[in-house]
Amino acid sequence: MKGQTQSFLEDLHGLFYFNAQDARDIMLRFHSEMGLGLTGKESSLKMIPSFVRRPKGKEKGSFLAIDLGGTNIRVLAVSLDGKGRAEPLAISRYPISHEAMTGTGDMFFDFIAESMESFFKEHQIDAKRLQGLGFTFSFPVVQSSIASGRLISWTKGFSASGVEGEDVVELLTRALKRRNMGFIEVAALINDTVGTLVAKSYANPACDMGVILGTGTNAAYPEKTGRITKYKGPRHPDEMIINIEWGGFNKIRRNIYDETLDRGSFNPGEQRMEKMVSGMYLGEIARLIIMDMVKEGLLLNPHIHHAFSEPYRLTAEHLSLAEQGQFFNELGLIQVPQEDREIILEVFRLVSGRSARIAATAISAVITWMDKKMDSSHVIAIDGSLFEKYPNYRENMEAMLREIFGDSAGKIKLEKEMDGSGIGAAITAAIASSPWDKSLIARLSSLRCR
Ligand code: GLC
Repeated sequence: MKGQTQSFLEDLHGLFYFNAQDARDIMLRFHSEMGLGLTGKESSLKMIPSFVRRPKGKEKGSFLAIDLGGTNIRVLAVSLDGKGRAEPLAISRYPISHEAMTGTGDMFFDFIAESMESFFKEHQIDAKRLQGLGFTFSFPVVQSSIASGRLISWTKGFSASGVEGEDVVELLTRALKRRNMGFIEVAALINDTVGTLVAKSYANPACDMGVILGTGTNAAYPEKTGRITKYKGPRHPDEMIINIEWGGFNKIRRNIYDETLDRGSFNPGEQRMEKMVSGMYLGEIARLIIMDMVKEGLLLNPHIHHAFSEPYRLTAEHLSLAEQGQFFNELGLIQVPQEDREIILEVFRLVSGRSARIAATAISAVITWMDKKMDSSHVIAIDGSLFEKYPNYRENMEAMLREIFGDSAGKIKLEKEMDGSGIGAAITAAIASSPWDKSLIARLSSLRCR
């Protein structure tokens, strides 16, 4: 390897690596932003009350769920046996078209209603026999009750017009009416992180965090109601799940590639941590580094670098395949000399490794917020393709946890919770339909949280 390349890579290590002390600094700043968010003060962590507690495992019945927030919409019918078992009776996925993502709000919600119609036909389901709909809408929404909430701003490349600032349950209800499905009642509106936490804790009460590491990244945890000082409602039940919206965390040092990516993104200045961690951006960070190396003459022959010259052409999936040894054929890069392949892989490992270390740091911050001295064990439910499929991602997270906590890291269990966001929506619909919660919801419906 040329000396120049070597020193470029060494600098890159410096830019992308952070040690346990850096992690502890981030955790302190995270705590301070969490505190501000809970009091309703200016903070990069929105700390959104979800108006829902964790389930007791006894919720029962058959519910409908919609899970929306990534590249597909999923529609599910879920049966809950009241003994901690939630089973999908039917499930379908429909890819969200670019038009639906970026057209008008009506087009977007009509697409959801159409998908539901297809689902009922496909599985010959009589929607009237299901007990209510749980709607997972994985964007920052300020909720005013368990079944209403306004979209603050789109994330992850969505931009349908006329939705920001509006109540998304109302918009969905109108679309359902347009297609003669007005009888479907939206019982609960939740974030995917809340769904993941709810789904895992239905069967396992030790679960106290839901995390998404996929197209976007975020987490939810149960907070003591008395600590949510911006929430003016009843103090019972004494816990409420908080959607942190940690993708927006901005007290974190960025490097030149993070800044370049941010400037070229559809929402500059926003979702800073998400842009360093989530699947939507990892490929682009790697591409910016590789283009820099090409420009400096450190990498790739000019006639093959076109694979890297188009923004967002390189995806997290490519990075993941490459780390499994497959990527070079797929992008037509069979001719790349061995030495260049190794350099490219090194870049990918740095980018994905940092993502995993930041994710583990953020998890550590939330755990120590709940349990300062790490007295208890914590089960963390995680959904999303980075955690599920990316080689060594979990191992990198666990290594960071060990660096931060030493032996106590053994008290933290990272557990896969696949499809939790949809199943969690159905469970939340069940919680919302329980007589006790129903009367509470009625009392809360006029409340507003900042
Ligand atoms: C984005 C959304 C957030 C969601 C996350 C994971 O960060 O703003 O609401 O939970 O993606 O899907």
